[in-house]
Amino acid sequence: MSSPHPSHGDFLLAACQGGAEEALVARQRELLPDLARAAWRRGVVTFRLPAGLRPPGPAALEELVFARTVVRSFGQVADADETARVAKLHALAGPSAWDDIHVWNRDPRLEGDPAAVRAALVAALDPDRRRALEAAAAGGTVPGGLVLDCVVDAPDRWWAGWHVADTPAGRWPGGVYPGRLPERTVSRAWLKLDEALAAFDVAFEPGSRAVELGAAPGGACQRLLEAGLVVVGIDPAVVADPVATHPRFEQWRMRARDAKLRDLRGFDWVVADMNIDPKSTLEAIERVVSAGGRPPRGILATLKLPTWSRAAELPGWLARVAAWGYAPRARQLSTAGREICVCAVRGGARRAGVSRRRPPARRPPGR
Ligand SMILES: C[S@@+](CC[C@H](N)C(=O)[O-])C[C@H]1O[C@@H](n2cnc3c(N)ncnc32)[C@H](O)[C@@H]1O
Repeated sequence: MSSPHPSHGDFLLAACQGGAEEALVARQRELLPDLARAAWRRGVVTFRLPAGLRPPGPAALEELVFARTVVRSFGQVADADETARVAKLHALAGPSAWDDIHVWNRDPRLEGDPAAVRAALVAALDPDRRRALEAAAAGGTVPGGLVLDCVVDAPDRWWAGWHVADTPAGRWPGGVYPGRLPERTVSRAWLKLDEALAAFDVAFEPGSRAVELGAAPGGACQRLLEAGLVVVGIDPAVVADPVATHPRFEQWRMRARDAKLRDLRGFDWVVADMNIDPKSTLEAIERVVSAGGRPPRGILATLKLPTWSRAAELPGWLARVAAWGYAPRARQLSTAGREICVCAVRGGARRAGVSRRRPPARRPPGR
């Protein structure tokens, strides 16, 4: 789909949640030690690519976890006049046949309108390319498309770069999920799960059974129900209507560790979103995956980071999930706070689809 790539760009620029910069750099030191950290600002870290080093591919970049998106950077353009900045950015980037242009603010607290900057960058192109990019704005970036990136660093200063949209998040400007929270939803967890499903390319089969540990007030369960799943929510707190009254939903009002092992058998998916320590979350999930019978097909878990320094424990947490027989992937979602989302599919498939229909949920324990 994409045109020949530009070959230049001596830096990688990674976008992250404000505050996650050190955690991102710690992952880079561990996994991509040949890169050298260059400039960093809130929401952005740049790394110098040593001469002759092949840039890391999408799988290696995904392991950075805290990088929302990574682009090859051409450098910065600065000018008080926007028309001059537009001309400088195109001159720096060169004449590639971009499939889309992504503009985003390095820090969401910065003033400035990315849509207006994008319109100015598009308007400066030749008419054919302009028409293609206007269509792209309506339909979103095509998978595999060649993207020109413009990161607004300050009102008069932009970073320019490029990337190939070879992952779902690579199609979102700045790696920020473009989905919106529908009005009907009972909590923001709906959007978090919506982003996780898109980022990890999870396809549920309607009729599959899911259990959510930490289900109240119910936004994530609502998203699972909308996907056609049969859902059990475990939480001592109250799940709100309309989730609680949904015919495919039942709540077990208890802590996850108080559910009987035999009742935890037969689920296709385990979702966990408890506001407790990651180790306790993993212990609770382990009870489900080792409850007996056929183990769940997949896991979608939120691991809360009480402090950023706890991110150093991530390799151990992922190793634990792998030891259960799952292939874990992790990402800090753009719609979530200081936490990591882990998606793990049994047996190591990269694509997290399910293929077998399961019977409806049983009655709740103790009734
Ligand atoms: C962030 S909220 C969950 C949001 C929810 N996933 C949603 O979609 O609205 C965290 C929840 O974890 C629950 N929780 C904390 N410890 C728990 C435990 N040991 N077992 C089950 N739920 C727990 C809390 O009661 C709280 O409702």
